[in-house]
Amino acid sequence: MKGLTDWINDRLPFRELAREHLTEYFAPKNFNIWYVFGSLALLVLVIQIVSGYFLLIHYQPNEDAAFDSIQTIMFDVKWGWVLRYTHTTGASMFFIVVYLHMFRGLMYGSYKKPRELLWIIGFIIYLTLMAEAYLGYVLPFGNMSFWGGKVITSIIEAVPFVGDWLVTLARGGFGIGTATLNRFMGMHVILVPLLLIALVAVHILALHKVGSNNPDGIEIKEHKGSDGKPLDGIPFHPYYTVKDIFGTCVFLTVFCAIMLYAPTVHGLFIELANYTPANPLNTPPDITPAWYLSPFYAMLRSIPNKIGGIAALGLAWILPFFLPWLDRNPVKSVRYRPVYRIMLVILALSLLVLGWIGMQPATPAMLLPGRIFLALYFLFFFALPVVSRLEPTKEVPQRVNMS
Ligand code: HEM
Repeated sequence: MKGLTDWINDRLPFRELAREHLTEYFAPKNFNIWYVFGSLALLVLVIQIVSGYFLLIHYQPNEDAAFDSIQTIMFDVKWGWVLRYTHTTGASMFFIVVYLHMFRGLMYGSYKKPRELLWIIGFIIYLTLMAEAYLGYVLPFGNMSFWGGKVITSIIEAVPFVGDWLVTLARGGFGIGTATLNRFMGMHVILVPLLLIALVAVHILALHKVGSNNPDGIEIKEHKGSDGKPLDGIPFHPYYTVKDIFGTCVFLTVFCAIMLYAPTVHGLFIELANYTPANPLNTPPDITPAWYLSPFYAMLRSIPNKIGGIAALGLAWILPFFLPWLDRNPVKSVRYRPVYRIMLVILALSLLVLGWIGMQPATPAMLLPGRIFLALYFLFFFALPVVSRLEPTKEVPQRVNMS
């Protein structure tokens, strides 16, 4: 066996790679539970690709057959319902772990120097993930797929001069039909997943170049022992692989509990209106997106002017890219920044409330709260350059805090 591994290693340096990225990759020793969500995101990406492959075997991208092919998967294909509910539950779980992963980055200032690019790549992954989820939502060709496909592609009409041409190009015709399903399937199955895999690889490469941040926001590379190893670091393998395996087991237990016992609960993980086939003559009373996209849908709707809504949405997606430069405070972690902590709570609250508003029927009563919480979201980014410069901070310890 050793002979074989030596033979392979002489031709493919897997031992060097394992050393560089696992056994001699030093991670801060004060990681907490918030540091499990990166590996969980990786796990869900694999779950989605594998379950998606098996769904694709039976799916028909045709306006007359798509809905029925999904019913075939659910009722006729052996274990087909497990495959489908794994994929639909996986979509929501992906966003849950990615939202927690991003929130951790915000809490511990992981977007700051030297991790600016890591954050930016992460945010591109998030935008790509939203596109992937939207494309998948249209494929079953239920009634909500149809109307969601129509409403969201019609946003492209707002592009000056070439808007109409672009919408037709995106849909593959004037309406939503077989050509749309073929386009969307191609992107959902190949283009966007390949992009996601490439982006995640670059994300991890960038992480391993600068090293992980930690709950204290202290750079462990600044305190090295006589052997050149960080005093506050421990090898990723076995110390964190073992923790990640434990996290994976807990996560899969929750995942399976939802997938097996409550995959349709309150239409949270799967769209209930999609149990009716697409019908161009029957507009659902409330066209609402999945929960993970709904804060942005609420932003779009809170300005009842197409261009205004799109501008608000665009700004909401652009501002996080500039976070590393908007935050001027040298202290990273929220542990030592009481004012930033309050701002972060308000930001999270505004997104949660916007998420709730986005799932409600579009009534005039929702307009004012929608605008207030949209303004609070923007306020976080616009106030940060000033507040971060003036805010009082607590003393940051020299070495990581293990308590
Ligand atoms: C498919 C989605 C993603 C995957 C698979 C992924 C994977 C990972 C992994 C494995 C880590 C190292 C472990 C950890 O720190 O938890 C990490 C770190 C990080 N990720 Fe992601 N990530 C994803 C999305 C994102 C997004 C959307 C953002 C932000 C917009 C982001 C920002 C970061 C940052 C800033 C770090 C360093 C955190 C620190 O050291 O404190 N990631 N990511």
